[in-house]
Amino acid sequence: MSENLTDQYQHYVKPQLGQLLRILRLDKNYQHASDDTMIYQSSGKPISVYDFLGGYGSAILGHNPQFLLDEVDLFFKNKRVIQAQASLRSETAQLGHLIHDLISSELQSQDTFITTLASTGTEATEIALKNAMLIWQHKRDHLKKELLALAQSSDLDEFQAQTYHALLSEIDSSVPVLVSLSRSYHGKTASAVLSSSSDYYKKMYSNVLFKTVFLDVENDWDYILASLRKTVKQIEFKGKEFSFSPFIGFIFEPIQGEGGIRPVQQIN
Ligand SMILES: Cc1ncc(COP(=O)(O)O)c(C=O)c1O
Repeated sequence: MSENLTDQYQHYVKPQLGQLLRILRLDKNYQHASDDTMIYQSSGKPISVYDFLGGYGSAILGHNPQFLLDEVDLFFKNKRVIQAQASLRSETAQLGHLIHDLISSELQSQDTFITTLASTGTEATEIALKNAMLIWQHKRDHLKKELLALAQSSDLDEFQAQTYHALLSEIDSSVPVLVSLSRSYHGKTASAVLSSSSDYYKKMYSNVLFKTVFLDVENDWDYILASLRKTVKQIEFKGKEFSFSPFIGFIFEPIQGEGGIRPVQQIN
């Protein structure tokens, strides 16, 4: 059976998208691209198309910029090493240092910023959320240890013992909460889907890792923050006060990508 590329794409890769590309006549197979122009063949003739989308930013330097091609050429010509897991990566160290310098001077901070590299946007989201979950779990474990130390510091009466066990089970059963913006998109992996506002995939993963609260940039943020603050639990045990927050973090991208390109103007 001979099928053209559009049929193959529609049958074996993305049925709905393939159909849509065909209807919109976007089922073009570009073979060359440089700077802002992409080229496909039609009846043996090259057709140039000006690219206004630019990979939503991934082609921000244009297609196949010469200085990058030269670097790639040099890399392979010099037979540089790619697969060397247990080793020191010199360019990574230098890039990490540069990123630290840029961020610390922008934020005027004395902190050290470490860099974790990833290949895709959705991986970056996973890394950020994994880190947020880890910090939240550490805080939760620390709080439990503090309560345990207090519980063991002297004999508990019946009321105090009940309070202690009720607090522990409340802390253990609390679901972490992420704050995100409505109309946001962060990628296709599980955590990224959960933090994006589209309902389409989110249902599959609901409540598996964390819950997400979606806020609108247009809303009254004073009111929102006040109501979020109320969900931070204040705990009193043996005359001491503790607080426990369900929030693991707030995720937003300065340019929202769900169904268009929308800069987040300002969040007060
Ligand atoms: C705003 C936004 N965030 C995150 C992503 C995910 O990036 P990637 O496709 O590299 O995983 C995208 C992808 O389109 C995006 O538009």
